[in-house]
Amino acid sequence: VTPGNGPCRHDARRIPLPGRARWSWLLGSPIRQRRLRQLTRLLAPRLPPGYVALDVGSGPGYAVRALVRGGRAPAGHWLLADPQRAMFTRREILATVPSLDRVVAEGGQLPIRSGSVDAALSLGVLCCMEESRIPAAVDELGRVVRPGGWLLFAVPKWRGSADESLLARAGFAPVERLRPGRGLFRKQD
Ligand SMILES: C[S@@+](CC[C@H](N)C(=O)[O-])C[C@H]1O[C@@H](n2cnc3c(N)ncnc32)[C@H](O)[C@@H]1O
Repeated sequence: VTPGNGPCRHDARRIPLPGRARWSWLLGSPIRQRRLRQLTRLLAPRLPPGYVALDVGSGPGYAVRALVRGGRAPAGHWLLADPQRAMFTRREILATVPSLDRVVAEGGQLPIRSGSVDAALSLGVLCCMEESRIPAAVDELGRVVRPGGWLLFAVPKWRGSADESLLARAGFAPVERLRPGRGLFRKQD
């Protein structure tokens, strides 16, 4: 485990994959689900019909389920990206999303065309990465989201302002904040 800067500071390459995914059930706790619902409400009404969206560091897919099952998101296509293949085993969650692909990938190296997604999610992910990998991961978000597209973003409060500076550098401006480091951002044209 990387020496701590916060409660969930770990990196996908440092902890054996099965060991980390074993804790994925924690992501489904009621308090997290409530927070995800709060956040996803910001994005759902802004998604254009037929959108393409990406959840980076998706885990089992709880955020996408909250968006789709909450009934507010129109029909669109989802891509879930996570470096832990074992995160994708919760079929009952994935089954709630009609159009979905999964890819095993690091946030700093997404196998996705530039400007090809209408919206991206990065929820509780940067805080799980080594500090040195974070700028590349934020740049990748800036690369794949089209101008005018959306980013739903969350990190713990203690690192919210610093990470928002990185988002600004990658071209994202805040649209609706629940607090620093948690809210909806828009990619500038
Ligand atoms: C706290 S979980 C959040 C999961 C999901 N975003 C949610 O809100 O339910 C952090 C996720 O980040 C993923 N992750 C860790 N390091 C990563 C990296 N370098 N690139 C992309 N995802 C990473 C983990 O595998 C894990 O699924």
